[in-house]
Amino acid sequence: MNQSELYVSLDIGSSSIKVLIGEMSDDSLHVIGVGNVKSSGIRKGSIVDIDATVQSIKKAVGEAERMIGMSIQEIVLGVPANLANIQNVKGVVAVNREDREITDTDLDRVIESAQVMSIPPERELINIAPKQFIVDHLDEIKDPRGMIGTRLEMDGIMMTTSKTILHNVLRCVERAGLQIREIYLQSLAGGYFALTEDEKNHGTAYIDIGGGSTSIAIFSEGHLINTSVIPVGGDHITKDLSIVLKTPTEQAEMIKLKYGHAFYDDASDDELFEVPVIGADMKEQYSQRYIADIIGVRLEELFELVLEEFYRMGLQDLPGGVVITGGVAKLEGLGQLARHILQTRVRLYTPDYIGVREPQYTTAVGLIRYAYKEDLFYGKIGNSHALSQMALSEAVSSPKKQTAQVSTNENKESAISKAKKFFDKFFE
Ligand SMILES: Nc1ncnc2c1ncn2[C@@H]1O[C@H](COP(=O)(O)OP(=O)(O)OP(=O)(O)O)[C@@H](O)[C@H]1O
Ligand SMILES: [Mg+2]
Repeated sequence: MNQSELYVSLDIGSSSIKVLIGEMSDDSLHVIGVGNVKSSGIRKGSIVDIDATVQSIKKAVGEAERMIGMSIQEIVLGVPANLANIQNVKGVVAVNREDREITDTDLDRVIESAQVMSIPPERELINIAPKQFIVDHLDEIKDPRGMIGTRLEMDGIMMTTSKTILHNVLRCVERAGLQIREIYLQSLAGGYFALTEDEKNHGTAYIDIGGGSTSIAIFSEGHLINTSVIPVGGDHITKDLSIVLKTPTEQAEMIKLKYGHAFYDDASDDELFEVPVIGADMKEQYSQRYIADIIGVRLEELFELVLEEFYRMGLQDLPGGVVITGGVAKLEGLGQLARHILQTRVRLYTPDYIGVREPQYTTAVGLIRYAYKEDLFYGKIGNSHALSQMALSEAVSSPKKQTAQVSTNENKESAISKAKKFFDKFFE
C-alpha cells in the first residue's frame, strides 16, 4: 500500500523559526524542504511582537518554498507548552446506528462530548488525545470503529492553553498568509517520536532545551501527563559568555557553537582561542575549559530548576530516565552534566532524517509525524491541498498504529523525485 501525503510544519521558536516540508509515506518521512531563520519578536517561547514574528515566519516559509519551487498554503502548527494545561477527560455517547456498529461519526461524537467539559473563558482548546475507548464496559480499546455496542466511552487527555498565547500565534500565522491544517502541543508532537514506546510507558521526562526556554514533558503509561516550561535556554549561555568575556553577542554565540563544552572536567585546557573585546582594539585568549566553567554554571542552574519542577509535579520516580533534545542538546558534554546533576539515565535525541539531523528540528519533525499519525487514525489522508488529486482513499479504511521508532530513509530518492514530479504537474 502506498499512501503518501505532504505536510508542512511550523515551529515558532525563540531562537529560530523552522519550516519543514515533508512527504510521509508508509510511515517514513522524507524531508524535501527546510526553512530556518533567526526569529525576532519571540521571547521565552511567547510572541511579544506580532509584526516582527510575521516577518520571520514569512522569511522561513520563503526559504523552504524556494527549495521545492512551490508555495506553501497549509501548515501543521506547534503551540509551546507555556501556560498549557493537561487534564483527563471522559466522553460518553450512545451508538448511533440501528445495527449498533460503531462508525466514524460515533468516534467524532464521543470526542466532542468530552469537550463539553467546561473550558474556562480565558482558555482555549488545543486538542484532545484519546487514551482508550470503552465499548459496553469492555476497555483498553484503541479503535472502536467496526465494533458492535450500545454505549461508547472515551478516556483521553485534553490540552488547553491561554487564549492570549494561542490567539497571538494564530494571528501571526494568518498574517503570514498561511492556513492551519492542525495544531498540536509542541511537547506532545516532539516527545511522542523522540521517546521509545518503553520510555513513554515507563515514565520518562522529555526535555527540549531551546534558545529562550526549556520545556519539560512527562510521559507515562504511553501518554503525556504533565508539562512545564522554565524560561532559561541556550541564549542565556550566550549572554553569560558575552558578559564575562566582554565580547559582542554574535561573537559569544560563535564561540559557544565552536568551542562550547558543558562539562568542565572533560573540556580541553590545551588549545587557546582568541576573543575580540568590546570597545577595545584587542583580543583575549581563552581555553575551552575556561568557557566550560561559565557554561556549566548556567546549565547546572537549569538542571537544578528541572529537578525543582519534577518535585513540584510530584514525580516520585522516572524509571525511563530523561531524554534531552532542542538546539542546546548539541553542546558537547551536555549529557555528562545532565547525568551528574539529575542523577538518572540521560539520552540525547537527534532526528535521523537527511537534511534535519540536528536536535533543534525535533519539534518540527514531530509535528509532521504526529499529524500523519492522527490523519491515518481519523482517515484524513488525502486532505492535503497539494495532494488532493491523488487517489489515497485506501487510508480511510485502514488506520495504522505508529511506533516511536525512527523510520529509515530508504527510497528517499524515489520519493523526492515522485514529489517533484507531482509539483511539476501541478503547475503545468
Ligand atoms: N552546537 C551547539 N552548541 C551549543 N548550543 C547550540 C548548538 N546549536 C544550537 N545551539 C543553541 O540552541 C539554541 C536554539 O535551539 P532551538 O532552535 O531548539 O530553540 P528555539 O526552538 O528557537 O527556542 P525555544 O524552544 O526556546 O522557543 C540557541 O541558543 C543556540 O545557540
Ligand atoms: Mg523550540
